[in-house]
Amino acid sequence: MRARILGLLRESMPEPVSGEEISAKLGVSRTAVWKHIQSLKNTGYDIESVPKKGYILHKAPDLLSPEEIVAHLKTKWVGHHIHYTVRLEDSTNNVGKKLADGGCDDGLAVIAEEQTHGKGRLSRGWFSPMGYGIWCSIVLRPPFMPSEASKCTLLAAVAVIKAINKYKGVNARIKWPNDVLLEGKKMVGILTEMSAEFGKINYIVIGTGINTNVPKSMIPDELKELAISVADVAQEPIQRVQILADYLKNLEDLYETVLKDGFRPVLDEWRKYSDTIGQEVKVIAPEKTYFGTAVDIDEEGLLVVRKEDGTLEKVIAGDVSIRPAGAKGKRYS
Ligand code: BTN
Repeated sequence: MRARILGLLRESMPEPVSGEEISAKLGVSRTAVWKHIQSLKNTGYDIESVPKKGYILHKAPDLLSPEEIVAHLKTKWVGHHIHYTVRLEDSTNNVGKKLADGGCDDGLAVIAEEQTHGKGRLSRGWFSPMGYGIWCSIVLRPPFMPSEASKCTLLAAVAVIKAINKYKGVNARIKWPNDVLLEGKKMVGILTEMSAEFGKINYIVIGTGINTNVPKSMIPDELKELAISVADVAQEPIQRVQILADYLKNLEDLYETVLKDGFRPVLDEWRKYSDTIGQEVKVIAPEKTYFGTAVDIDEEGLLVVRKEDGTLEKVIAGDVSIRPAGAKGKRYS
């Protein structure tokens, strides 16, 4: 009901809507309308009550609540079910996996304003402070083989970069496989987890952390030089909920492309945004460390590296660090 009332208020912005009109359109009493308006105000909606005229919505709060997302979402099915928590004492990926095990819908979005146990790749954590980023996990049930699943991380990276590069001044690039970087600093991290059986994916959970506006002063010392937010570089105001809605739309479009035409078009898009291809790299793989030049990603989404001895090596998992331009002979970061 709150969402429907908000819908009416939004439609008539900046004009008022009378309590009478709301109650007639939605089939509830005027007292019920009044109570919902009070509860919206308590959640942070700036709603003015104008005597004899009704209610005017001036401003919505900066929240990723289902009501706010629904008002911006343009998808057909991704994000149509939302599990929203203000302070999640867990990780959105863990919650997504539990809900997926319990049979939740394809396209469910798990969203938190803060997560206390944000997870990163390679057993690292992910700093996810209250209201300063987008901490979101999407459950998908793809029909393709488990061996294809890792490419969904590349797909998510393209989806997110298209959503944030819309802002003036933001020209983020993708570092293989899943870091979205600006000025060499991390703006977005993606962690894809999967439940599969032999030859069949039960589900995947694509967890995306977007630093939208994390204040520098809040960032833990050890991350200060490594992290950056969209708002640090954008030359126009950013809106978290709009970035999230755009990301979900891009994700749905790209995923549907994959279901129709396979991963090739997505890999082609990924190459356009890649900051890794053509760079000299140091690969820290689980078994060995080596140097070379990243030359491409293959059909499986693996990074192809020409090693210093001229042979090609495909990077399956591990950390790839890029040598800064002009730093030949110097140490890698
Ligand atoms: C990485 O770069 O190491 C991946 C970071 C992924 C962070 C996101 S935030 C939303 C989702 N929930 C998590 O616990 N992790 C992912």
